[in-house]
Amino acid sequence: TEAELDAIFQQRIEDEQKIEPKDWMPDTYRKNLIRQMSQHAHSEVIGTQPEGNWITRAPSLRRKAVLLAKVQDESGHGLYLYSATETLGVSRSELIAALQDGSAKYASIFNYPAQTWGDMGAIGWLVDGAAIVNQVSLQRTSYGPYARSMVRICKEESFHQRQGYQVMIELAQGSSKQKCLAQDSLNRFYWPALMMFGPHDSESAHSAKSMKWKIKRETNDYLRQKFIDQTVSQIEFLGLEHPDKNLKWNEERGHYDSSELDWDEFYAVINGNGHCNRQRIQHHIKAHEEGTWVREAMAAYKNKHIKAQHVA
Ligand code: ACO
Repeated sequence: TEAELDAIFQQRIEDEQKIEPKDWMPDTYRKNLIRQMSQHAHSEVIGTQPEGNWITRAPSLRRKAVLLAKVQDESGHGLYLYSATETLGVSRSELIAALQDGSAKYASIFNYPAQTWGDMGAIGWLVDGAAIVNQVSLQRTSYGPYARSMVRICKEESFHQRQGYQVMIELAQGSSKQKCLAQDSLNRFYWPALMMFGPHDSESAHSAKSMKWKIKRETNDYLRQKFIDQTVSQIEFLGLEHPDKNLKWNEERGHYDSSELDWDEFYAVINGNGHCNRQRIQHHIKAHEEGTWVREAMAAYKNKHIKAQHVA
């Protein structure tokens, strides 16, 4: 019966066995994974837009080459994740349609504009830094193809994080104008980076189930706290001011206490009303339409080969 299958499935999860595409899984497990993995893929792809905006304006040829490589890596992450999601029986075109019609979300952070070169530093350092904290835990997620894709993605994200931090070091140690640029980017990106971890555990619709199924291995608040704690010394090393004036070490908890986030802003952004939501989706639709001929050419080429094989 369904209940027996459910129990066997849950036991496999408890035993830390990876679930593979052809294994039996509850429909709700499959659906929840498709939701999370596809939103993760969309985030990687939409995430290329704020940084892509600066490729032609990088301050040196070296910086341009590094940024170009980083953006290309992010597109690659999107592709691995779409492929991993397809193993659950959904097609890439369905996933893209859900992104474009607004029914599937992507990380809130990418709806903030990248206004200065300093933002390239802050995004690499804080946004990719927050992504790593989350994704390291996902290397142990229960679905095999997702867990394996995270291994390579984490290695690449860690290179991205370091390139961003290096941009910040150069700015923070530069002229007073450059230091201001670094501080301004830190001030703007710090809070949205904390929001990347999602709502408080008490408000998180999917956490309880996802933790039970080990799709998620750590909760939103646990990972956010980890990121807050690890970022303090990085800000100190840069010699910049911490954006959170209420930040205070709590001896008893062994963690930093910090300000409450602006949850109205968070919900506005995830519900489509952030600074750049419309622009990001319009740009995606335009690029997708412009690429129609490439997809058609690939399909025609494939058909030609199938026909040729048939004749032979
Ligand atoms: N941005 C956009 N949407 C968010 C965010 C966020 N920062 N945080 C939560 N949400 C959405 C959830 O997707 C969910 O929406 P849905 O029901 O329409 O799908 C809703 O808010 C409720 O949140 P939760 O119940 O907490 O959702 P969940 O359990 O999926 O946790 C989290 C959210 C932590 C982002 C999880 O999905 C996750 O770990 N995803 C994989 C990592 C990822 O997507 N990273 C992307 C950014 S990193 C990068 O691309 C560089």
